[in-house]
Amino acid sequence: MTEHFTICFLPAGLRGEVPRGTPLREAASALGLEIESLCGGRASCCRCRVRVLEAEEAAEHGTQSSGAHVSPLCDAELRARTSGRLGIQERFSCQARIEGELVVFVPEDSRVGRPIVRKRAGERACALAPAVHKYFVELVPASVGEPRGDWDRLHDELCTRFGLDVALTVDPVALRSLAEALRTERGRLTVTVWQGREVIRFEPGFRERALGLAIDLGTTTLGALLCDLDSGEVVSQSSAHNPQIRWGADIMNRIASTKPPGQLAAMQRAVAEAIGELARDATLAVGARPEDVVEVVVVANTVMHHILLGLDVHSLGVVPFCPTISRSLDVKARELGIPVLPSANVHLLPIEAGFVGADNVAAVLAAAPHESDTLTLLIDIGTNGELVLGNRHRLLSASCPTGPALEGANIRFGMRAARGAIEKVRVDPATHEVRFRTIGLPRWSDRLQPGEISARGLCGSAVLEAVAELFRAGLIDSTGRLYSERPCRRLRQNVDGMWEFVIAWAEQTAIGEDITLTQADVRAIQLAKAALYAGSRLLLDRFGAERPDRVVLAGAFGSVIDLERALAIGLFPDCGLGNVTAIGNAAGDGARMALLNVAVREEAGSLARRIEYLELSTARGFNDAFVAATQLPHAEDRFPSTETGWAPRAATD
Ligand code: FES
Repeated sequence: MTEHFTICFLPAGLRGEVPRGTPLREAASALGLEIESLCGGRASCCRCRVRVLEAEEAAEHGTQSSGAHVSPLCDAELRARTSGRLGIQERFSCQARIEGELVVFVPEDSRVGRPIVRKRAGERACALAPAVHKYFVELVPASVGEPRGDWDRLHDELCTRFGLDVALTVDPVALRSLAEALRTERGRLTVTVWQGREVIRFEPGFRERALGLAIDLGTTTLGALLCDLDSGEVVSQSSAHNPQIRWGADIMNRIASTKPPGQLAAMQRAVAEAIGELARDATLAVGARPEDVVEVVVVANTVMHHILLGLDVHSLGVVPFCPTISRSLDVKARELGIPVLPSANVHLLPIEAGFVGADNVAAVLAAAPHESDTLTLLIDIGTNGELVLGNRHRLLSASCPTGPALEGANIRFGMRAARGAIEKVRVDPATHEVRFRTIGLPRWSDRLQPGEISARGLCGSAVLEAVAELFRAGLIDSTGRLYSERPCRRLRQNVDGMWEFVIAWAEQTAIGEDITLTQADVRAIQLAKAALYAGSRLLLDRFGAERPDRVVLAGAFGSVIDLERALAIGLFPDCGLGNVTAIGNAAGDGARMALLNVAVREEAGSLARRIEYLELSTARGFNDAFVAATQLPHAEDRFPSTETGWAPRAATD
């Protein structure tokens, strides 16, 4: 029998018995404490650090803790300790395995913060024609002269009275509730029919309300819009982090994580349960139950789409990135393990190609470049950058390998958008002094006492702004190099010998050390923005245009970035600041439109076939365009909107 040991996690004080050999991070998760991970437990992100207490420190917790009660340091930990990134007594919780009683302290920056998920939709108007309808029936009871089964008589009644097709079928699980529904109100019942061809629910009496759920399943976050299918109104919204984050921050890590036996199923279950939790929160808010959700529409990138369906994703990690299925699909919620009405259908919008998934199709539906003569560049910045360029005559798309830097990952002090994350940064060009704003605090750091701030790290928008501000202040040159020779008390070399700029001093943080932007962080942002810009450039060249007429930014990141600063570092082609708009969660909005109108699903299918996909990794000219775009703002292209100086800022900006 496997030996178990008592383990206690501080400061929460969570305690439990855990089998020998369990990684500390897994043990914490089992006890209800989530520890950060951006690398999916591959010992490369350094975000899961914990401190193992020795006996004298742990005495008051009644546990014989010791550094000898965990497995030896792995190579990655040894390297991190040599470079000073891992302190004495500290361990990577994804690597250290339990070999005895332990008390483990989890520092603030290793705890997963409560997510601030910005998955609000723009709510573009759309006509109402949902797939699900309700019919009220008063069924004549069976008699000696009419002894046919309840369903047979009801079937005929529905076809005769409401003109439904005689091919109408019934979901076998829903059928189990027919007898009771008939008995409860003596033959008066409400029947829910999907697509005019399948009965999915029987309810006693007259039940008017039908609810549907539109889900935007992103690599990092999930958003849900609960819609009233009679009025088309969004009645509540909910959002959360994608629980698959524990298997890696980006798509390639997720693909790699599906390899061990049973892991794909575990990842599928995790996301299905997360959708169920969103359904529960959203329905609870309007006094309904998850069982009242009669249809779900999901949009996702191709990898998330496949994992939700439990499909093998390995082919998505290698050229030509071929999916198992591209066209739209309807699957029973119970088959996916999504706890809504078990006989409800889950509709997945079609995939365009490789990494350009149904979420991109949905974003196009919401932004509607295909309905206008204006040449629109739609940029959806998530963990991957997805681009669509076009108008009513032609649409081109591409997927850019931006990496997760724009979401704060693989950044020395990067973190997701959560309470305590610095989201805005300003650098005085003359004094090089810094002020910043953190999520959860309405005032800037210079209006607060250091102890009131408790910053925990930098989220993506802050990293981008910091690079733009340092560039404007002359502390970064156009190649992205930090000017180490400039006299500035915030510029210094860290223990690795790398130059860095201090954004927040230790006394302003909750992590007990300075929060800095390193030279490597600047490089990560340069690479991300270069991928996005080079992708845009190649699409423009393919289209035969010099620049777009308008730029539309979709996604949570697009909603929070400072457009002027984004343009100042050359994130996208300059078509005039007045022609750049952010439309929020366009993918979620497209999912809502498909939920409310079946014709939109047809339109999605035709768009997915019509959009010409450009594979950037093999496209001629991409490397040159990429290299030119790594410069700030660009080696050749001009950005007139930022050349006359940035717009004056209000005192609160
Ligand atoms: S180093 Fe442990 S999760 Fe990344």
